[in-house]
Amino acid sequence: MERETLTLTVNGVEREIRVGPRTTLLEVLREELGLTGTKNGCGQGHCGTCTVLVDGQAVRSCVYLARRAAGRQVLTIEGLPFRAGGKRGRASTLSSRPLSSREPCNAVSAPRG
Ligand code: FES
Repeated sequence: MERETLTLTVNGVEREIRVGPRTTLLEVLREELGLTGTKNGCGQGHCGTCTVLVDGQAVRSCVYLARRAAGRQVLTIEGLPFRAGGKRGRASTLSSRPLSSREPCNAVSAPRG
């Protein structure tokens, strides 16, 4: 199948990438952009380990086609504000919200809606 070039913004930086029709956002983040903070767990959209935000909405990047992210804002764990020494910097609406026991253990978790 033919690859296409698309542009998306990852952690505030505009990126141009080439993807195939079945390339997932997880593959792009980890393999093309080297953002390995987003993990691959089940690879089937069940566990939430690969969760990132696309235009502020939590998505399972292992089952989210990269082409759907074209022109959108993607936020991974690498894009969250942290300070040296392990203390959090300015709190975002995501990082300041306590996680419930039903959510995956992933710093980029957000309310599902
Ligand atoms: S790796 Fe489990 S939901 Fe994506």
